[in-house]
Amino acid sequence: MRLLERSKDSKRVFSIVSEQNEVNRRRKYPEDQPAKKMLLRLRVNGEIHEVATEINKTLLEVLREDMGLTGTKHGCELGECGTCAVLVDGKAVLSCLMLGIEAVNAEVMTVEGMMQDGKPHPLQSAFADLGAAQCGYCIPGILLTAKVLLDENPQPTRDEIRQSLSGNLCRCTGYTKILQAVELASKEIIG
Ligand code: FES
Ligand code: FES
Repeated sequence: MRLLERSKDSKRVFSIVSEQNEVNRRRKYPEDQPAKKMLLRLRVNGEIHEVATEINKTLLEVLREDMGLTGTKHGCELGECGTCAVLVDGKAVLSCLMLGIEAVNAEVMTVEGMMQDGKPHPLQSAFADLGAAQCGYCIPGILLTAKVLLDENPQPTRDEIRQSLSGNLCRCTGYTKILQAVELASKEIIG
């Protein structure tokens, strides 16, 4: 019994000391204080979500960490690899370079939202049929970027596809199958 009490006492002391250490750390390094949270109302994949998140988080972090939409991938976080691409109001954007708060009032689409009426998008089917993905890490960003191309230009040339995907790096495939898959999806879309 006494032992139990002592253990409770030492836990309380430990917790008081930890709290005091945290207060001291924040006084000493005020810039380390966690950013304020705020409630963002975001429209993602056709649904409204209210997300409590830090004001300084990128859209990439909000999607992955706060909304569990992990289809959007972390890459360089410097705007160089295209892995984090999502659609904002129908345009491909690098979600690592945009704050979550900037997406308020916009329509965001991630790879999770590409299915149409429960069926894969023609691009998703073409990539699967041709085995155009290897590790798959770059593929969500490529699918969404290619979707913008096909929405605007359903029958692109090989050069136009190459040009539109020039910001999306893939370390595995050598790109040929990716280009072929976009062409196959184009044929499917135009019928
Ligand atoms: S993670 Fe955004 S461009 Fe590389
Ligand atoms: S399939 Fe692996 S990085 Fe593109």
